[in-house]
Amino acid sequence: MKNIRIAIGSDHAGFELKTQIKEWLEPQVEVLKDLGTNSEESVDYPDFAHAVAGEVEKGKYDLGILICGTGIGVDMTANKHQGIRAALCWNKEISKMAKSHNNANVICLPGRFIIIEQAKEILDTFFNTEFEAGRHKRRIDKISC
Ligand code: RB5
Repeated sequence: MKNIRIAIGSDHAGFELKTQIKEWLEPQVEVLKDLGTNSEESVDYPDFAHAVAGEVEKGKYDLGILICGTGIGVDMTANKHQGIRAALCWNKEISKMAKSHNNANVICLPGRFIIIEQAKEILDTFFNTEFEAGRHKRRIDKISC
C-alpha cells in the first residue's frame, strides 16, 4: 500500500472521523493529502467533495476519501465529475464490491453512522481487493454520458 497517493476531505460532520482515519492511514501510504475542512465549524460539503474529486480526476491522486454526515452529499457531488466513480461504503461487504465490480476511485463514508474501527475495516477491505475487470470493465465504461 506504500505506493498509493490519497486525497482526503470532509465537511464538519466528517471532521472527527477524517482526523482518526488520517492518524491511522498516514504511515501506511506514500501520500495522504488533507484538503479540508479543518475544524467542526459548519461548512458546505460540496466545496470539499469537488476539491478531492477534481484532484483525483486530474490524476494527481490515485484515490479519494470523502466523509460527511451520511456520505450522501459528498457522494452525489463527487459523481458529477466525469472521471470519478464514487462509492458510498458503510460496511466491508460494500467496499469489497465497490472495488471488485465498480473499481471506485473515491470512497465516501458516513461519518455520523460509523466509528473508526468500521472505517478501518471498510478501507482495508478496499485496499486488499482487486478489480475483476472483464464484464465489469465493460459496464463501468458505459457509465459516462
Ligand atoms: C451536514 O449537516 C450534513 O447535511 C452533511 O454532512 C451530509 O450528511 C450531507 O449529505
